Amino acid sequence: MSLSPHSAVPASDTPAELIRQRLGAETIDTENWNSALEAMLAHRSVRSYLPKPVPDDVLRLGIAAAQSAPTSSGLQAWSVVAVEDPARRAKLAELASPNPQILSAPLFLVWLADLSRLRTVAVDNGKAGDGLDYLESFLLAAIDASLAAQNAVVAFESLGLGTCYIGGMRNNPIDVGAVLGLPPESFAVFGLTVGYPDPTVATDIKPRLPQSLVLHRETYQLPLSPVALESYDSRMQEFQAAQGMAVRGWTRVMAGRIADAAALKGRDRLKEIVRAMGFKLK
Ligand SMILES: Cc1cc2nc3c(=O)[nH]c(=O)nc-3n(C[C@H](O)[C@H](O)[C@H](O)COP(=O)(O)O)c2cc1C
Repeated sequence: MSLSPHSAVPASDTPAELIRQRLGAETIDTENWNSALEAMLAHRSVRSYLPKPVPDDVLRLGIAAAQSAPTSSGLQAWSVVAVEDPARRAKLAELASPNPQILSAPLFLVWLADLSRLRTVAVDNGKAGDGLDYLESFLLAAIDASLAAQNAVVAFESLGLGTCYIGGMRNNPIDVGAVLGLPPESFAVFGLTVGYPDPTVATDIKPRLPQSLVLHRETYQLPLSPVALESYDSRMQEFQAAQGMAVRGWTRVMAGRIADAAALKGRDRLKEIVRAMGFKLK
């Protein structure tokens, strides 16, 4: 499968084919197709990289895209730490284990929900900044960081790089904070590996739920369609078989991931940890 020079999209994938891989039999008229849609619909997480550094201008273009994302009330309550040093990446990989792609990717971006800068701004303006003490502000910062990061993902992918989010940053947030020298009221919501994909490791487009389950018109549609879920399970089984993964479908795997507090693998204690990192979450 040959890749086009400017994207991770196989040159042969037509718009209809990209939609088929993502949504199965559902068809959407692609008359309004464009390169932005192509970049987003061709997305796949990349977990194997070439040992080729990411040029600084490419990093800075990706961050410029991130900075161009909408931000709640203009607060820009996020920051990002770019980590290239192999020893520091190894420490973070250990804290987010098992995510070996943090070692394989030359660049690891750690995205922060960051209220620390706003606290300083408040104090410099003679205010306590008590508005930062509420759950709303933490949520807002996490939303801002997520929107920024996803803009960067689309930008990097459009430049032929691959990425993979790393939620494992939340396995040991206090230790991650120590490795990165984070100030109070900043929290690593996730990491993002960035690099040039290893072309010898094929990564296919992962199917998503049928639109009938996610797109509600006017009001939320219930009951949940068992037929739609079953059809998605079948598509995921086909994908898993083609990728050489354990064939388990989707519903069973997801039910396991949310079965109980233990399934969160330590992240069930996040509220206390986030409070220990300076957020009040009132
Ligand atoms: C916030 C977030 C955290 C994630 N954390 C991890 C992770 O720790 N390790 C990993 O391999 N993939 C991680 N992923 C990638 C998802 O597994 C992946 O996006 C999902 O399976 C869909 O596959 P796709 O991105 O190839 O379409 C994460 C994705 C998101 C959005």
